[in-house]
Amino acid sequence: MSDPRARRRLWLGALLSGVALAVASWLWAAGGLYEASGHGDTQTGVLRSSTQYARGECGHCHEGHAGQDTDPTLYPYGLFAEEEDVCWTCHDGTVTYAADARVGFSSTPPNTTTDYYKHPVSPLYSGVTPSDHRSGEVAPSAFGAGRRHAECVDCHNPHAAANDGTAGQSTHEPGGPTGNRLAAALLGATGLVVTSWQGAGQPFSSASYDLEPLTSLTDNYEWQICLKCHSSFTTLPTFPAIGSGNFTASKITSLGVGQVREYQDLGQAINPNNLSYHPLAAVGRNAGIPVASFTSPWSATSTMGCSDCHTKGPAAGGAEGPHGSTHMHILKRPVRLQENTHYLDPSWGKAIGHDPNELCFQCHRWQTYVEKEADPATNTGFRDGGDNLHTKHLGDMARGVTCYTCHDVHGTNKQHLINFNLAYVTAPAGSQGAYTHSASGGSCNLTCHGENHNPLAYSR
Ligand code: HEC
Ligand code: HEC
Ligand code: HEC
Ligand code: HEC
Ligand code: HEC
Ligand code: HEC
Ligand code: HEC
Repeated sequence: MSDPRARRRLWLGALLSGVALAVASWLWAAGGLYEASGHGDTQTGVLRSSTQYARGECGHCHEGHAGQDTDPTLYPYGLFAEEEDVCWTCHDGTVTYAADARVGFSSTPPNTTTDYYKHPVSPLYSGVTPSDHRSGEVAPSAFGAGRRHAECVDCHNPHAAANDGTAGQSTHEPGGPTGNRLAAALLGATGLVVTSWQGAGQPFSSASYDLEPLTSLTDNYEWQICLKCHSSFTTLPTFPAIGSGNFTASKITSLGVGQVREYQDLGQAINPNNLSYHPLAAVGRNAGIPVASFTSPWSATSTMGCSDCHTKGPAAGGAEGPHGSTHMHILKRPVRLQENTHYLDPSWGKAIGHDPNELCFQCHRWQTYVEKEADPATNTGFRDGGDNLHTKHLGDMARGVTCYTCHDVHGTNKQHLINFNLAYVTAPAGSQGAYTHSASGGSCNLTCHGENHNPLAYSR
């Protein structure tokens, strides 16, 4: 019995007969994911107070006889604590190798009905927390309406979460063509495997997909987990948190005539059949964006995870991931969605500019979009001859215009993510109909800040 692996298998037998549960065989098969997981590692894995078991043993999480959960319907597996408290016993900055996944929740502002700063895993920090997770949930209704919730184990499988070979290193690699792949930390969690995407512009619920445990670091992607709860696979909240003040995403709830709403259904947004999207489920549609208009290592061939934008702030401590942030919508950096709320840049001798710290400039070169005298080699397709039309709208000539005035963020069935914000733009043909794309440029038919573009074309 000195071989920890043999002991582990015995444990499994006892547990299984105890709870009479069908556990997916892929997890436990010889050489299976647990033995390759971070928790199961005999050198760096789980270790709680008990000296009865060696590092990596099941017994550090599952009690031999009786669990401590006061509500056994939530975690009926003899766990030593409830829900996130199981995880925070070690992931609170006190345990060697275990990344601090508590600080992202504890140090960020509480959620309100309009402003979300964190996933609502705990009433301690989130305000209201529905405890509706059930092990093995697969029905769409388990993630929406009255059952809407988010717990650590909805995104992480404690029996499979792994690292890249370095203790504690389990996050994805940003910037390259494989940047949207599943982080090792997410291995084994369930997600949507799409066999056929829906038609362009259609809700995700019309795609064909299955909900399955994600077991491949090369063929599975982070968005597959997020879409369980953030797409029309389930019932989305009727009143989404849309932010307040400068961060209000008004295109989501706008009742403006002609405003094409930003898709709250993220599966609808990132559909590779759409005319434009950030490259989450596939490489982007606009291969022509000059590489010099990106910050390194980003380019038109990059793919990305939701967590390239939704994660803790760059200076914040603790675990990476969309746990919580000091910026609204769990964003890595601030994004100003309302106009005239910009950074005042005294170095220009002008009071208008864009804070280079804003999210978009993490990947899109600030100088290309904002600076007065942009290097023509970095000019984007939004130019008239050599005239940089981005800096014209966003630089010192402009009145606090934002990217969101003209663009959506996730994806839309219109070229170049165009969807004008009708809070500022008057467009009789509608927020997307007002823009016409052509191979060598485009044209607009609208009025904005008293400027008539009725129509106004640009060509390269
Ligand atoms: C008894 C202590 C302990 C408990 C309880 C615990 N963890 Fe861990 N966890 C660790 C340690 C130690 C590591 C680092 C292992 C390594 O990197 O080799 C780790 C790693 C991880 C990783 C990243 C994979 C890696 O190896 O870097 C994730 C994700 C994770 N844990 C999630 C959870 C979740 C979710 C829970 C609650 C269900 C939980 N942990 C409970 C100790 C614990
Ligand atoms: C890091 C803590 C941790 C370790 C280590 C751990 N488990 Fe679990 N286990 C959990 C949690 C948390 C759940 C509940 C999962 C849920 O609700 O989705 C669970 C659930 C289970 C279940 C119920 C079915 C399922 O998969 O959800 C079984 C069976 C199980 N564990 C067996 C084991 C065995 C056997 C081992 C060792 C080989 C082990 N566990 C190691 C935390 C752990
Ligand atoms: C909404 C989904 C979601 C929830 C809920 C969630 N996580 Fe994560 N977590 C992620 C993602 C995504 C990553 C990987 C981020 C990356 O690749 O940069 C991650 C990464 C991690 C890591 C590794 C981070 C590192 O820097 O090495 C740990 C540990 C972790 N999570 C623990 C937890 C614990 C504990 C909880 C509950 C208190 C939790 N997570 C809740 C999505 C989630
Ligand atoms: C390029 C950066 C970026 C990426 C990548 C990204 N987001 Fe967002 N997300 C934002 C910004 C900015 C906002 C706030 C403004 C808005 O709502 O458009 C936002 C808002 C949200 C919201 C709240 C508003 C709404 O639409 O319901 C959710 C939920 C969300 N994102 C989920 C996701 C998921 C899931 C993914 C991956 C499939 C993802 N995001 C990828 C930048 C991003
Ligand atoms: C098990 C369900 C679940 C999963 C999986 C999940 N989320 Fe969430 N998420 C929630 C809930 C619940 C909220 C709180 C607001 C709501 O109900 O939509 C939320 C809120 C958010 C918000 C803030 C929305 C806002 O309006 O500001 C973002 C951003 C977000 N999630 C991103 C992600 C990303 C990225 C992933 C994948 C890594 C993910 N979520 C996976 C349930 C989930
Ligand atoms: C994590 C990196 C990253 C962040 C952050 C980011 N982008 Fe992007 N963006 C990209 C990449 C990579 C592409 C290339 C996609 C392509 O080639 O179609 C892109 C493409 C675009 C496009 C062109 C789409 C098309 O089809 O022409 C627009 C518009 C855009 N981004 C706007 C924004 C805005 C606005 C923000 C801030 C809210 C933002 N991006 C934040 C990486 C990023
Ligand atoms: C006044 C409206 C407007 C504003 C404001 C605006 N854009 Fe654009 N943007 C456009 C148009 C129109 C295009 C399509 C250009 C084309 O024909 O390829 C475009 C194209 C892009 C592209 C693709 C570049 C290429 O070479 O095709 C990116 C990336 C982009 N915008 C990012 C941003 C970011 C980031 C911001 C905020 C800093 C922003 N845009 C603000 C109108 C705007």
